[in-house]
Amino acid sequence: MNRQEELKLTEEVLELKSAKSAFLGDGVERLSYDNYRSEERFRNELDKVFRQLPHAIAHGSALEGPDTFLRASHAGVPLLITRDSDGVPHAFVNTCRHRGMQLVAEQSGCAKRFTCPYHAWSYGTDGGFLTAPHFDQGFGELDKAELGLKSVSCVERFGFIWITLDASSRDHVDDLFAPIAEDFESLRIEGLRVAHETVVQVEANWKLLVEGGLEAYHFKVAHKDTIGPYFENNLSTFQVFGDHIRSVLPRATLADSDVQDDSFRLLDHANILYVLFPTTQLLVQQDHIVWTQTNPISPGLTESRMVTLVPAEDLEGEKAQGYWAKNHHITCTTLGEDSSVAEGIQRSINAGFDQTMILGRFESALGAFNDTVTRRLAS
Ligand code: FES
Ligand SMILES: [Fe+2]
Repeated sequence: MNRQEELKLTEEVLELKSAKSAFLGDGVERLSYDNYRSEERFRNELDKVFRQLPHAIAHGSALEGPDTFLRASHAGVPLLITRDSDGVPHAFVNTCRHRGMQLVAEQSGCAKRFTCPYHAWSYGTDGGFLTAPHFDQGFGELDKAELGLKSVSCVERFGFIWITLDASSRDHVDDLFAPIAEDFESLRIEGLRVAHETVVQVEANWKLLVEGGLEAYHFKVAHKDTIGPYFENNLSTFQVFGDHIRSVLPRATLADSDVQDDSFRLLDHANILYVLFPTTQLLVQQDHIVWTQTNPISPGLTESRMVTLVPAEDLEGEKAQGYWAKNHHITCTTLGEDSSVAEGIQRSINAGFDQTMILGRFESALGAFNDTVTRRLAS
């Protein structure tokens, strides 16, 4: 984000604060409970959103050098992500082409080839078929060139490795993120490293987890014992960039800061949340970024991966370790409060006594996010 934009966003928040007003949308909106519990709706979301659009499967540094790999999954598909000997990332379905055994069981590591634990068919880091015991006798009529691992579209951009499950998808990473590329580039995520990560399963629809970050109305209530006291009451702003949302969440210190000072930085007095459609959220803080990866499993079950990304040069040393561990713990506790809320909402939705939830004028970012989902489903 450039300086002019940073000061404009600051001004906007300070004007609202002095007018004692929240950032208001046009009017009250309603969201149907069916969007969060319908199997049919979820299958549509799988086809038209999660399989169609790029998903950040790993930070680039998770594959440190040539001939490295990691195991992952997205939208129910088991994946093997590799970096070949030239450093190029690839993604494959983690399934042996012989009789379908899971090829790699290890979570991550270094390897020049992958050998299936069932009958020892082996493959290179570029996915190509290499050898199989007694191949000529048993499979001689097959073309080895067609026995490579099933590949999935994969590209490294903005510091992440992105995969797209649907081979026919025309939504390239560069196109999807073009409206917010300047901001995304400026975060310099490729220079960060993973300090800590935690994966949890939350018994709630994926949209409830995203929506939890899009308003500050709940901060002083649901987060009263954690982050609530540090933030302004019910004050956040947002801007829409194509399918994505950027939200400014001001801390209480912003009101007393000297905006005219050249050393003023909005990030010293606010968090900035990027909800990058559909499954990537970046909570940009003073000295680090929390990356939340959303993996929908069923209408009422979502895996949430919380990763603390820190500048590579700030990762080393005993003090740094304690500092980032503490930060990560605070993040997990706060997002744990949001997850408990989401599970409570999901139970109400499943019970089915009411049919809609109500969004106030200061919760209109949730409406904007749901409009994007609806637009994608209709496309
Ligand atoms: S299933 Fe992999 S070698 Fe047989
Ligand atoms: Fe929250």
